[in-house]
Amino acid sequence: MKVSNGMNKAEVKIRAEKLRSQIDDLRYRYHVLDDPRVTDEVYDSLTVELRQLESQYPELATPDSPTQRIGGKPLDKFVKARHDVRMLSLNDAFSEEEMREWAARIRKLEPQASWSYMCELKFDGLATSLLYEDGIFVRGATRGDGLVGEDITQNLKTIRAIPLHLRLSLQHASGLPQALRHRVLGSIRKAKRIEVRGEALMSKRTFIDLNQAQKRSGLAEFANPRNAAAGSIRQLDPGITASRKLSWHAYQLITDLGQQTHEEEHLICSALGFPVDRHSKVVAEFEEILVFRREMEKLREKLPFEIDGIVVQVNERRSFERLGIVGKAPRGSVAFKFVARKATTVVEDVIVQVGRQGNLTPVAVMRPVKVGGVTVTHASLHNQDEIKRLGLKIGDTVIIQRAGDVIPQVVEVLPKLRTGKEREFRMPRMCPVCGFKTKRQIISGDARGAATICTNKACPAKNLRAMDHFVNAFELYTIGPKIIERFKDEGLITDAGDIFSLKKEDIEVLERFGEKSAENIIQSIDDHRRVSLSRFIYALGIPHVGEETAIDLAQHFGGLEKLMSANREEIDTIPNIGEAVAKSIHEYFQQSQNRKFLEKLKRVGVTVLHEAHLKSATGPLAGKKIVVTGSLESMSRDEAKAAVRAAGGDWVSSVSKNTDYVVVGAEPGSKADKARSLGVTLLNEKEFLKLIKP
Ligand code: IVH
Repeated sequence: MKVSNGMNKAEVKIRAEKLRSQIDDLRYRYHVLDDPRVTDEVYDSLTVELRQLESQYPELATPDSPTQRIGGKPLDKFVKARHDVRMLSLNDAFSEEEMREWAARIRKLEPQASWSYMCELKFDGLATSLLYEDGIFVRGATRGDGLVGEDITQNLKTIRAIPLHLRLSLQHASGLPQALRHRVLGSIRKAKRIEVRGEALMSKRTFIDLNQAQKRSGLAEFANPRNAAAGSIRQLDPGITASRKLSWHAYQLITDLGQQTHEEEHLICSALGFPVDRHSKVVAEFEEILVFRREMEKLREKLPFEIDGIVVQVNERRSFERLGIVGKAPRGSVAFKFVARKATTVVEDVIVQVGRQGNLTPVAVMRPVKVGGVTVTHASLHNQDEIKRLGLKIGDTVIIQRAGDVIPQVVEVLPKLRTGKEREFRMPRMCPVCGFKTKRQIISGDARGAATICTNKACPAKNLRAMDHFVNAFELYTIGPKIIERFKDEGLITDAGDIFSLKKEDIEVLERFGEKSAENIIQSIDDHRRVSLSRFIYALGIPHVGEETAIDLAQHFGGLEKLMSANREEIDTIPNIGEAVAKSIHEYFQQSQNRKFLEKLKRVGVTVLHEAHLKSATGPLAGKKIVVTGSLESMSRDEAKAAVRAAGGDWVSSVSKNTDYVVVGAEPGSKADKARSLGVTLLNEKEFLKLIKP
């Protein structure tokens, strides 16, 4: 990119250094000081300029430049990383009783010493180690077996909460008490290597958004934010990690910089540029630990991150060290876990549900048990591989938990409680609903294993779910799944097409229905016979075609006939639609029973409206490809999408050199960085609004 900034190289060098320092100040203020006034726009805008300068003089780019957060190439495999100091874990305590025993135990070992306890949140993510040499982030690793982990440096670099260089001069360390500052400043300057450990995390919000996106694209959802964080970190392609918007919190300073307490470790970490838990508290008395725990348990729901307990440790380092290690855990610290959300119960049966696309999902039927205030009776076991991983048999006693605050899941089997009467469960070779053969199929993406699917295209279970999906897409909310099943059992319908030829008389004679409800149902069917092309496409339930893709298809083809006769190559050229999805769409329209179904819909009076009115060919964005990253203040994502389309633009989900504009909202993802590196024009929200409403 040509830059005509009129600066010579020496001036560019100075400007680049100042930009880096300013950008890091903003990062520090946002992630460490938690100052919400910092906006991504300013951060992004400065990064754009820096990137331009660095591309003008590539030799001026530094490894710790914020421009280096993305751009790493996908790896073939992870390289091993040996830890200088073993990564330990924590012993758990689940009750006040166990905590008292712990306190008594360590008191007995160190009867003379006086100490306080530091209490902090126990983040539910993934343990990581960060290594800095001469202040520069050089290596990040997972725990692995404690001695050797995996090198995930590239991935960790994408996390903005992690500094790429340490703030060694501590000039802004306002939180650092004078005495501590004097004590540690010298050793910080002298230290060649500094290691800090902490938890990589995904926020609850990001987790929910990610799962929605996974679902829309037909990919497996993550069971909880912890799994999602782990799955995002253990990616060979750092681009994927970047898109997952992870966060990070420091909890341990490994290098001896003169800290005398654990509290000082936190203070130093914070001054060096790491976010630390802001709820942590040093208490003198054991009873106060219990108070802290109660307070944090109350706060739990409101926190942006999942926590699974608190960590309590002897604050004074000298005592902590003298207490030593038992097994793999230090004696001086303990994880005081929250327990309410886990419980044990017995798996009485495993049933198999058949999904809309014929996928068989094993579900554990359990003796009812209360977990976190809710009675749980069923939990998805996902697939055969998951059952194998758990080693689960029918009749087993299991530990279940409610993950991500809602979904119950089986986390562990307790084999010692077996009686010998437990039975193996195998995924059925025949579909439990129609008796056709099943087959195993690998799903691409982050799936947790191979799925088992029914090979019968007309499987009635598939059919029921497909009808349910169809009526929902048509917004026929008067017809719920129970009613569909009833109509089907009564022989009134065999597919979604039949719904549109139902008559009042068919329904009102059914037990528990009556005239009024029959009338309501018929009325709503009549009200919803006309749908937009995108709704119609979505309703068909074509594998891999969610609402987004349906809109893309409708936009591109404008009418059903064109879509039906399109070849694979043409579908493949539509932005956002990949090869596998194009294949699935093409196949759908090739199959004769699907074509018959479409004809039937036409016959029963379903009218597909043309989509053309949605997209303007003359609007200010006509012919332009637009990506929006981050959230906009003035409109939701769906509204932004509609606005782009109304202005004639194409809403695109990923940035390429063909993208015309990238609109950058608050908390943008890696797309903004990618746009910059490709030289794509960035717009802030104001500029975007001006453009669409000139
Ligand atoms: S201290 C000796 N503090 O919990 C290990 N760990 O169950 C030092 N964790 O491996 C850990 N929040 O991944 C510590 N505030 C916190 C923590 C924390 C989460 C994780 C960490 C550790 C695991 C042990």
